[in-house]
Amino acid sequence: MLILAVETSCDDTAVAVLEDTRIIHQEIHHQKIHEQHGGIVPELASRSHLISLPVLAKEVISKASVKYEDIDVFAATAGPGLIGSLLTGLSWSKAMAFALKKRFLGINHLAAHLFVLYPLPDSESFPSVALLASGGHTGLFFLKNWYDCSLLGATRDDAAGEAFDKCAKLMGLGYPGGAEIDRIAELGDPEILKLPSPLSEPTLAEFSFSGLKTAAKITWEDGVSPENLAASFRKTVVDILLAKTISAAKRLQARSVMLAGGVTANSLLRKKFSEVCLEEGLEIYIPEKELATDNAVMVGRAAAAILSENPDSRSDLTCNAFARWEGNRLEALVRQ
Ligand code: KG4
Ligand code: ZN
Repeated sequence: MLILAVETSCDDTAVAVLEDTRIIHQEIHHQKIHEQHGGIVPELASRSHLISLPVLAKEVISKASVKYEDIDVFAATAGPGLIGSLLTGLSWSKAMAFALKKRFLGINHLAAHLFVLYPLPDSESFPSVALLASGGHTGLFFLKNWYDCSLLGATRDDAAGEAFDKCAKLMGLGYPGGAEIDRIAELGDPEILKLPSPLSEPTLAEFSFSGLKTAAKITWEDGVSPENLAASFRKTVVDILLAKTISAAKRLQARSVMLAGGVTANSLLRKKFSEVCLEEGLEIYIPEKELATDNAVMVGRAAAAILSENPDSRSDLTCNAFARWEGNRLEALVRQ
């Protein structure tokens, strides 16, 4: 089964062709236009997707050595995300499916971040606790299996990635700054400054990062080296994410821990989670760095998983974009 997957929820235009879960080819276009604004300008993001998407899709189809007519399933992110950006990918994919009389699947972006690991965690790996930490969301999920995923708790204010980005902006490191903080943190000493760890009680599955961001601002204004602030900030965030994830995994007798979302590209986070999971006898699943941040492979793999559970699954062509996800049960398929 050939899947053409599209992701345009924010500022990355991504297109991939997969044969079931196997990647045949993917291209990602990172929009540069937002850098000069220090954050994403939604209107510019949608316009940029409109221009890039058809070109990128053509390139992916050609490099994958397939034709549009060969595609069995068109899958696109329906939300959560920026409505204008989502509508570009969603409308393009629906139009292609309609014109070529193929199946269309609307995909939930948060679920897709987890499904990038599919089908690796198998029946032996469940139940599992998943940490999803990205620029827009931070939360813990409990998975009984791939198709039964419930929210344990989320952030009360900023997402972890948003906190990284705000701290980076403060230090003039550009946008998005998570990777840049990660890079300079290697040169600093995380023990020189003590930043507060808000809502850090390990047994509480909720997060709060806005106080940490304010503390970083005050510390920066008092005068501190960017390397030491980056090192302390990174360690504080990673320690909070780690303690809460491991606590939930032990409490719920999980067999494994899954990591997903852009923040899990963080090198300290990957190292510490791997070490602690080994000590605790938990399996750990971490996406490759390039597949931790937004991409279209995760959309394609979510589509493959949906169809493996029920080959008749499809979304309506009225399937709409949505800005926010609310609820307790996270499902990959967006029907309408
Ligand atoms: O999953 P993602 O690509 O997009 C959303 O769905 O939000 O996540 C983007 C976030 C940004 O906030 C970015 O700064 C952060 O992931 N990020 C990192 C690293 N690489 C990306 N944060 C910390 N360390 C990194 N190495
Ligand atoms: Zn994302």
